[in-house]
Amino acid sequence: MDTISPVTQLHPEASAPRLQITSAKTLAESSNLTSIPSHYAFTTPTSGDQAVHADHDDPIPVIDFSLLSSSNPDQRSKAVSDLAKACQDWGVFMLINHGVPQSQMKATVDALMGFFDLTDQEKNKFLGKHVLDPIIYGTRIKASIDKVLLWRDLLRMMVHPKFHCPPKPEGLSEVLAEYSVELRKLARELLKAITESLGLGSGYIDEAMNMDSSLQILAANLYPPCPQPELAMGLPSHSDFGLLTILMQNDIGGLQVNHGGKWVKVDPIPNAFVVNTADQLEIMSNGKYKSVLHRAVLNNKTTRISIPFSIGPSLNTVVVPAEQLVDGKHNQATYISRNYRDYLKFKQSRVLNKGLCPNQVKDMICVAYCYAVLC
Ligand code: OGA
Ligand code: NI
Repeated sequence: MDTISPVTQLHPEASAPRLQITSAKTLAESSNLTSIPSHYAFTTPTSGDQAVHADHDDPIPVIDFSLLSSSNPDQRSKAVSDLAKACQDWGVFMLINHGVPQSQMKATVDALMGFFDLTDQEKNKFLGKHVLDPIIYGTRIKASIDKVLLWRDLLRMMVHPKFHCPPKPEGLSEVLAEYSVELRKLARELLKAITESLGLGSGYIDEAMNMDSSLQILAANLYPPCPQPELAMGLPSHSDFGLLTILMQNDIGGLQVNHGGKWVKVDPIPNAFVVNTADQLEIMSNGKYKSVLHRAVLNNKTTRISIPFSIGPSLNTVVVPAEQLVDGKHNQATYISRNYRDYLKFKQSRVLNKGLCPNQVKDMICVAYCYAVLC
């Protein structure tokens, strides 16, 4: 239970053949690889073949962060209502003019690439066991239960309330500490505007979610080229567990979001972040802003890296639908309350791969659809 699949561990089911798990990067770099090992193949095709580009008349929203802090009240209120629409209609948007320097974004990508370039022995020191481990390296959480491995290597660190980071490569820790501080500021501003867009006071979130000790997780997903991208998966369909995720990526596409029942490709915009709504925001908004389903597909040419930053409540916060959004008639509270720590453990322990959860279990068990993936 609650284990990440370590990249060198043996398959735990006694009856199953013992399976040597290796990192996707090491596998991709092994010479003459023309097909993937069978334990990376999903039984249904996974690739983005069925995925579409967003319609011209319904594009993925672009939010200009600088307008959210505009001193012109009309401009600001238009920006807040655009944000509301983006959260409600899509659950995902591209964030531009966010103020994070390009040089800092590049330094962060480079430093994390440097981690994946370390030897397996060095990286394996961080093989994680539990969702609440401060540093986890591996391929996916719960791989042993899902039986199919993901074509990705993962590094995941808790960076707030306490900052954790592997000591190597040199300089990684400084770069990530600075990036985490910068992203914390950005995420808190965005959350304030989002709470305002729900008709709640801008201070609501700080108090209700105990944001001074908010849990923040910084991760890096490395997706090496895959010889059979249509059979393997980078990350299957899932929703994120926190309030919001702010994702940085190199210029290689692969992220797809579920919109109106279709998989829509999220084409990278240089220097923009991709922001998506997550489970705790769905609960807090009593379902007004859904936690969006998304996934990452692979390609056979170029390594893709994505760097999600998740901001959530403090671990002890019991997240409930905001009182102002609930009444006894049309808007009854639809979510059961549980503290964030228990939510994380619970979500990780579920493997629900039968599609969307039926409404009657729309509670903390599965806000949208849990494939037991925690970034
Ligand atoms: C995640 C995630 C998407 C991507 O790490 O939770 O959804 O594009 N990543 O890598
Ligand atoms: Ni995700």
